[in-house]
Amino acid sequence: MGNPLFRTKSIERILADSDAPEHKLKRTLTAWDLTGLGIGAIIGTGIFVLIGTAVVGDAHRPGAGPGIILSFILSGITCALAALCYAEFAAMIPVAGSAYTYSYATLGEFLAWLTGWNLILEYGVACVAVAIGWSGYFNNILKLCGIELPYWATHPPDANGGIANIPAAVIVLLVTIILIIGVKESARATCTIVLIKLAVIIFFITVGVSSVNSANWSPFMPFGFSGVGAAAAIVFFAYIGFDAVSTTAEEARNPQRDLPIGIFASLALCTILYIAVAGVLTGLIPYDKIDVHAPVAEALRVVGFQWGAAIVATGAVAGITSVLVVMMLGQIRVFFAMSRDGLLGPWLSAVHPRFRTPHHATYLTGIAVAIMSALIPIGDAADMTNIGTLFAFVLVCAGVVVLRYTRPDHPRPFRMPLMPFVPILAMLACLGLMYFLPWLTWVRFVVWTIIGIGVYMGYGKRHSKLAALPSSEAA
Ligand code: ALA
Repeated sequence: MGNPLFRTKSIERILADSDAPEHKLKRTLTAWDLTGLGIGAIIGTGIFVLIGTAVVGDAHRPGAGPGIILSFILSGITCALAALCYAEFAAMIPVAGSAYTYSYATLGEFLAWLTGWNLILEYGVACVAVAIGWSGYFNNILKLCGIELPYWATHPPDANGGIANIPAAVIVLLVTIILIIGVKESARATCTIVLIKLAVIIFFITVGVSSVNSANWSPFMPFGFSGVGAAAAIVFFAYIGFDAVSTTAEEARNPQRDLPIGIFASLALCTILYIAVAGVLTGLIPYDKIDVHAPVAEALRVVGFQWGAAIVATGAVAGITSVLVVMMLGQIRVFFAMSRDGLLGPWLSAVHPRFRTPHHATYLTGIAVAIMSALIPIGDAADMTNIGTLFAFVLVCAGVVVLRYTRPDHPRPFRMPLMPFVPILAMLACLGLMYFLPWLTWVRFVVWTIIGIGVYMGYGKRHSKLAALPSSEAA
């Protein structure tokens, strides 16, 4: 079969594997559920928390100032381009695993493994940043009620006496329990919370717009384009999640039609809301006075809407919870798919006899994310998430081009327009955003990749189920 690193899994085999009864998931999700799941994954820590650092800047990079509006547009365009590639794949290969599965069908086992390895950053490490953002707003609400948790119990180990972010770890464990009970239940809960957070975002925009002072919009780009670019690389986090829709493909009732709808509807709506939030936020107060922990709620408080701040903080907690549900779900599905292929231990793809959910993958994800969210700073987790996700996007875009040449006749319920310009532009845009991430993130990313290669060489390459197949089927 040639070099095992390049063995690909045929689409037919991918679809057949997902039908094996011992690994079968329940098909219950509709287009509405998927759009809800998309929005559930998208609006969260990025818009409620990280926007603050993106506007103001931090020790590693300049901020965008009011130019954050441009940053959101740049990141949004990048995601829209990548979404076109995702939609073609998701409709064509509607099984769990998302980008990982797509790479397996196109770029070969090694790059598929690397994609999956990066999805652990995209979903698993994103959950860490999301849980920490949740904890920030949760503490805010407690403060409004006159309760203040001690510093050591709400911060990761630091020079000021932080020991562990306990609320962050606790919310992760609670979500883990929900996920073990079942996906339909979580999708329903997510939809309710999605409505709440959409209401809160619209509330912020409509209440805030009356207090906008256009003088705050100048200077528009206090640190020039480098600030705007650096901020675009941060707020990319705010868009992550549209692709999580495709990781639930095996649970969708009509994936061919509904996955593209879910991906585009959720991405488009969020982009419009983000641009509006960015405009209002930077119009309310001078950019350098924006808070970096709870920027959206704080901005309302500063201009005199105390009650508005409380509403936003409550909505943020609800909204960020739903992100956590969907992102954890994404991570679990990726572990599940990689294990089913033999690249990770078989233990991870066991399905619970009663709840029909991959409970082992859920325990592993829940415990690992809970520990990390107690001990890691939010910025580090967000940067790692972004670099891993952008790299996974690059591989997906490459894969979609490859498949057009290797399987030109395979049915494509959704065809990406303007081949090959869209995927090439998407790849360049992703690489461009990666360029703006801090060098330390790059170093960590290289180390993560080297560890991943080690795990593949030590385990996956030998245990791959594909290795056991006759070459005609595996090729
Ligand atoms: N887009 C998600 C968030 O901002 C990950 O929380």
